[in-house]
Amino acid sequence: MKKLFVKTYGCQMNAYDSAKMADLLAPLGYARTDTPEGADMVILNTCHIRERAAEKVYSELGRLKALKAEKARDGGRMLLAVAGCVAQAEGEEIVARAPVVDMVVGPQSYHRLPEMIARTARAGGHALETDFPALEKFDSLMPPQASGVSAFLTVQEGCDKFCTFCVVPYTRGTEQSRPPQDILREARQLADKGAREIVLLGQNVNAYNAQGWSLAKLCDAIADIESIERIRYTTSHPRDMSEDLIAAHGANPKLMPYLHLPVQSGSDAVLEAMNRQHRCDDYRRTIERIREVRPDIALTSDFIVGFPGESDADFEATLQLVRDIGYATAFSFKYSKRPGTPASTMRKQIPEDVKAARLDVLQKLLATQQYAFDDSKIGQVLPVLFEKVARDPGQIMGRTPFSQPVHVQADAALIGRVAEVKIARRTANSLHGTLLQEQSA
Ligand code: 5AD
Ligand code: SF4
Repeated sequence: MKKLFVKTYGCQMNAYDSAKMADLLAPLGYARTDTPEGADMVILNTCHIRERAAEKVYSELGRLKALKAEKARDGGRMLLAVAGCVAQAEGEEIVARAPVVDMVVGPQSYHRLPEMIARTARAGGHALETDFPALEKFDSLMPPQASGVSAFLTVQEGCDKFCTFCVVPYTRGTEQSRPPQDILREARQLADKGAREIVLLGQNVNAYNAQGWSLAKLCDAIADIESIERIRYTTSHPRDMSEDLIAAHGANPKLMPYLHLPVQSGSDAVLEAMNRQHRCDDYRRTIERIREVRPDIALTSDFIVGFPGESDADFEATLQLVRDIGYATAFSFKYSKRPGTPASTMRKQIPEDVKAARLDVLQKLLATQQYAFDDSKIGQVLPVLFEKVARDPGQIMGRTPFSQPVHVQADAALIGRVAEVKIARRTANSLHGTLLQEQSA
């Protein structure tokens, strides 16, 4: 067996892609390991969302260069691939700056990895593949080799929204939805491998649209797979929160009461400058409609503070929106420039200390809301889907319908099953409780 080390940065889409690349390389005799030392192939599956993403990749490559040299001294060869959105954005630049890299493969070209490996092994040169044939990629992906209790399934990739701060439309290309039949086949394969929860992934997942199927219809069809107990989806855009998807939250019992619906800002002026294509009131109304069908739904969002031109009043409007909505959790970031995006050259960039101060205020408010949401579950009995053994001996970890992690003293045989747990207390990032009874076999 050859050793494959995949390092994943960034989002769930990347985690999914890493698993797919490993599946794809398994027939070539590669098995995943946990360390790069001695690996025959190392893939850095990179993310371009965070600041200085490319720089971090180059410094990681510096470290890997030494390991590669060591492997060569032992008479072996370590193939080094850069995948993901930095690969897409930087392309040939990577090979120019880091000749140690054997191949650069963009997110739409993973299916070509085996061929690239063969080519590189033969010629010893560099291989570069950063086109956008997304659906072709899905066609040639392997069925999943293994699955956790909760499994990701990509249904849609890319984005046409062009928010002015975001690189995704440039790195992942335009919106493409996979055919429903392919998705359902993969969902059944995942179920056969032990998945009990499926998380449907897409940069704009609720814009899913293929052969007249909407995301709501897809969720209903997946709900028909008996051993799948839970369905989630992420990430959604407020503009694509359609009536049938909202209705599904009231009608499809397997669709979990959890929605990640990023709003980014509570100011119409900032939303406009971000090209979000919706106003604050639209978002508030969408949330109201969702809460009508599912009053207990856990809402989460992403926020950017310090977007160019954001005034104190704009920021205050964001705080007010957060107070009004009440989030279960949320992610918040300081605006940071992405080369090539319109916002990066906007005038009125916000000074770093102002961004930091605003982020601090927002995060404190969001933390208060998260604790309040978690505390509201104390004393309740909730169905928990157990995913894995926890770090503390005798404990296993699962999630509530609201996606909160729960730690329980219980037999590992419960992993992969849903059981009723009485929630007793909360620590910083987890709930703790006691097992009541098993709910399903
Ligand atoms: N600066 C800060 N945050 C960003 N995000 C995306 N691009 C940027 C940027 N340039 C955040 C958004 C998005 C999340 C995945 O990352 O909030 O929803
Ligand atoms: Fe980026 Fe999301 Fe905006 Fe698309 S909708 S451009 S992925 S932030």
